[in-house]
Amino acid sequence: MPDSTPRHVAVIMDGNGRWAAQRGLPRLAGHEAGSKSIERCVQACLDTGVEYLTLYAFSSENWKRPALEVNGLMLLLERFLNQKRDEMVREGIRLHHIGRADDLPPPCRRKLDEVLHATAGNSRLHLVLAISYSGRTEILDAIRSIACDVKSGVLDPGAIDATQVEARLGTAGMPDPDLLIRTSGEMRISNFLLWQLSYTEIHVTKKLWPDFQREDFLAALEDYASRSRRFGGV
Ligand code: FPP
Repeated sequence: MPDSTPRHVAVIMDGNGRWAAQRGLPRLAGHEAGSKSIERCVQACLDTGVEYLTLYAFSSENWKRPALEVNGLMLLLERFLNQKRDEMVREGIRLHHIGRADDLPPPCRRKLDEVLHATAGNSRLHLVLAISYSGRTEILDAIRSIACDVKSGVLDPGAIDATQVEARLGTAGMPDPDLLIRTSGEMRISNFLLWQLSYTEIHVTKKLWPDFQREDFLAALEDYASRSRRFGGV
């Protein structure tokens, strides 16, 4: 794999609702079409050697959406896991979850746990689903855990460093994203991977997520390859 291929790509999959509205369809039809874009991106990662793909599937804030949409998204997620389980096992894909699993409806949670377990031995592609995820909550949880260790005397305040924080994030052990793709033209981070995106290259496309094709993913990789990363140096 050339150096110019990102190891870790993160995606804010935005624009499903607008895609559906443009066609006079219910919002859920947009999410359903969006899950096809996920399949295309996963295949593109397998083909190009990207090792980690992190997808913002459902934010902690998304629970505020109408029940019909929330329930539909949870069912879609469960169906996606059901349909893709065997393929993930076969293709060497390891599923990970970041976010609050306890918030999920029990059938969805059970399916998620099952696929996490079934794919735990794989390492060709790490597919990280952010579900009921909030970057601020993830950092707050890490702070709370550090505070507990300091209080109980196992951690000296002077020893708190980036490594201590990173070990307590949902992404512990994973490299930070090299490339963040956001669809639908919005220029926001939206509470996604707030710690991990510090030095990530950002690629924004106006395409709505359900319209995002393999060529769009490859174009984002090409854009990334043209960047000069200095990590604050010169
Ligand atoms: C943002 O578009 C998208 C979401 C909140 C959900 C993303 C979910 C999927 C792509 C499919 C389900 C996930 C899996 C893993 C099967 P939006 O609804 O905010 O769009 P809008 O800004 O145009 O309204």
